[in-house]
Amino acid sequence: MNFVEIIARRRDGLASMPGDLAAVAQGAADGSVPDYQLAAWLMAAFLNPLSTQETAELTLAMAKSGEVLDRSGLPHPWFDKHSTGGVGDKTTIALLPILVACGMTVVKMSGRGLGMTGGTIDKLEAVPGFRTDLEPEAMLDLARRTGLALSGQTPRLAPADKALYALRDVTGTVANVPLITASILSKKIAAGAECVVLDVKCGSGAFMSDLQAAQTLRQSLVQTGEAAGLRVVARVTDMDQPLGAAVGNALEVKEAIRVVQGAELSPTEARFRDLLLEFARDSLAVAGIDADPAAVIASGRAAEVMRQWFAEQGGDGSVFDSEDWAVAPVQRTMVAERAGTVSQVSAHGVGHAVLNLGAGRRTKEDVIDPRVGAIVHVAVGTRVQAGEPLVTIHAASEADADAAEAMLRQAIQVGEAEVAPRRLFLDES
Ligand code: URA
Repeated sequence: MNFVEIIARRRDGLASMPGDLAAVAQGAADGSVPDYQLAAWLMAAFLNPLSTQETAELTLAMAKSGEVLDRSGLPHPWFDKHSTGGVGDKTTIALLPILVACGMTVVKMSGRGLGMTGGTIDKLEAVPGFRTDLEPEAMLDLARRTGLALSGQTPRLAPADKALYALRDVTGTVANVPLITASILSKKIAAGAECVVLDVKCGSGAFMSDLQAAQTLRQSLVQTGEAAGLRVVARVTDMDQPLGAAVGNALEVKEAIRVVQGAELSPTEARFRDLLLEFARDSLAVAGIDADPAAVIASGRAAEVMRQWFAEQGGDGSVFDSEDWAVAPVQRTMVAERAGTVSQVSAHGVGHAVLNLGAGRRTKEDVIDPRVGAIVHVAVGTRVQAGEPLVTIHAASEADADAAEAMLRQAIQVGEAEVAPRRLFLDES
């Protein structure tokens, strides 16, 4: 196969020939096509986007570029979930035990955070002892015994995505709906999923802030996923303000545990639970399971599954009994300077304040501090009196807390006018 011709067909906007997209995926995975040719093809695909059929073909070729987890023998339905990433998004950590308690089998690869959006792996690693480096055999074994396994990305599954994503990152070709679609779905198929739930975040704390672009990605994920043989639900959800109360690694795990344990929740935590239950219902519907996620929380079954999951992956079980772990030395509550209605809790602003506290990475090499972050007490539309808490900062030092407070004063605005609460789901009319 002459790769120059494959590039030229894409450059000229012609339909791919059979084998073109497999050559891209295989060439990226095994290094047989040099980076300069792959980069040229990616730019051509950016300028002349792939059709839905071509996106499905590329997705399958990328999924098959390495090993594909064979879940046969495990109880159906085989489930996976993906979020495009946001501030305070701890949904995966709470959703998976709820779904496993309802009878699903989950084998999931998750990512680390980069920039203001956190990653599930960093959050779980805040739990002392929690291991996230499972090989595919260990993931399957764990899922066979408990229904649930979660690991960081392994180069053995969908290696084409790793190579293509690294090139997209440095060639200005990330923001392309078919390429994003193939990247997300290929990892789900390689991990052996048959049903997937996808959360496309939209707002200042997400990588997409334009609603129309997010809707386009949502539609592409559904159409391509179905063309590739998956059962898919995709929703567009609000990321203009943080999700729930906690932002920061250990704080987010504590919130996820509280929700799964059915603890009493603050209003901002309850907003997270509302989104979680809606995703749980969507997941059960697409998997054809008749169960009530609120009931498995109330019965304690979801918390039991979560405990077993953490224990199986080496996590310290005492995190379920007390919140007195990974506690930052400085805690400072910032209060409203005047009465009014909260008009803005900028996910972008809160995300950057928490990143500066040390909860995230600016470069892949940065070491994160699991203890630090913020608990947001208000959401857009909340009425506050002067002196009422807006946010509690968890910092490694007083100087860090000062810097975070200055940023959070900008991020959280209180005004005189009435403001309606923001909708959680932006794909509803
Ligand atoms: N997330 C992914 O996994 N891939 C992309 O291309 C963008 C977001």
